[in-house]
Amino acid sequence: MRGQKTTYPAKSASLPAKARPRTVACRNAGIVGMGLMGSSIAACLLAAGHTVVAIEEDPARRRKAPRRVLALLQGSRRERLLEEEPNDVLRRLSISNDYGLLCECQIVIESVVEDLEVKSQVIKKIEQVVPADTLLGSNTSAIPPTLLQQSALHPERILGIHWGEPAHITKFMEIICGKKTMPNHAEHALALARQWGKQPSLLRKDVRGFITNRVMYAMLREAFHLVGSGVASIADVDRSLRNDLGYWITFAGPFRFMDLTGIPAYCAVMRDLLPDLDCSQEVPELMQRIVQSGGRGVANAKGFYHYTPAQARRWETRFLQFTYDIRALAEKYPEENGTAFGGTTERIVSRRQGRKRIPLLPHGG
Ligand SMILES: NC(=O)c1ccc[n+]([C@@H]2O[C@H](COP(=O)([O-])OP(=O)(O)OC[C@H]3O[C@@H](n4cnc5c(N)ncnc54)[C@H](O)[C@@H]3O)[C@@H](O)[C@H]2O)c1
Repeated sequence: MRGQKTTYPAKSASLPAKARPRTVACRNAGIVGMGLMGSSIAACLLAAGHTVVAIEEDPARRRKAPRRVLALLQGSRRERLLEEEPNDVLRRLSISNDYGLLCECQIVIESVVEDLEVKSQVIKKIEQVVPADTLLGSNTSAIPPTLLQQSALHPERILGIHWGEPAHITKFMEIICGKKTMPNHAEHALALARQWGKQPSLLRKDVRGFITNRVMYAMLREAFHLVGSGVASIADVDRSLRNDLGYWITFAGPFRFMDLTGIPAYCAVMRDLLPDLDCSQEVPELMQRIVQSGGRGVANAKGFYHYTPAQARRWETRFLQFTYDIRALAEKYPEENGTAFGGTTERIVSRRQGRKRIPLLPHGG
């Protein structure tokens, strides 16, 4: 994974086709943090054929993680996304608090709490034990990888890898280059992402929040504004968005949707509506109140809605099932090749390429 000297932002979205790796030799993958996302990332990497070393500092989480990963793998098997027996797959997972076990990993993904200081410390511990060419991915919702590169030994191999929960089912992935990320590392991450069954997007510059979170938080701010200013209730906002945006966005994305439904109307609406939208810089008061009162959502049955513990568990199960269903539905309507305005070509992966097994080569292969 060495070689090129230039760093992103590079001019083109990817290396020339000939230089682009089709499959990447990578046997051992590491994960640090076996929380909600770390567990589903582990399930994804195991299902893709990796041997996975997971580091978890909290003994209680360490104890619970194997059962949780097994349950995710069993779900994938039930949905025919996994060919192997889940118990056999789980044998490729080891969990420890000893960072030294990461020493043979060709890629390590940190998925610890969203805190710059904690993530930087974790990256420091990883860098002390892995070779200089091991790819380091940070699963962060919004922290620019450039900030994580500042105190790193080998910043050129650090990039953001933004997963979507549940990570073993969703096709979503954003690969984010920091200022010092080398393009060849980004290309390797993209190739790996495709081997994991993802349809990755590449961000050549790191902006806080990346693509989806920037758009989603703009939407969340406006949703809070509508509730806070008495226009509509929480349930009414949820219902409208679910039945409008929620119905088309898996099919089209915003630009394709405007193409489908007539562009000039959007232009006219923007003129009048944009000045009226909320652009507050503060965390909404309702959000602060919920968090201060200990609300975490279905995880502790306390959120914007009231839940009994049984209802909260049911929502978790329904969400998992829905994710499998929407994935199957989206696969009936794959992206199609096309050139977008401005000349950017869509990055398409054929369905057959979706879940290729990783060639199992020794480290450095
Ligand atoms: N939950 C999501 O839907 C989602 C989606 C995309 C990205 N992310 C990002 O993924 C990351 C993990 O999120 P999560 O939802 O799995 O969180 P989580 O709270 O479930 O897990 C956090 C993990 O961090 C570990 N941790 C906490 N403090 C630590 C420390 N000081 N040193 C080492 N490890 C420590 C915990 O032991 C745990 O394994 C975050 O950066 C989050 O923003 C989450």
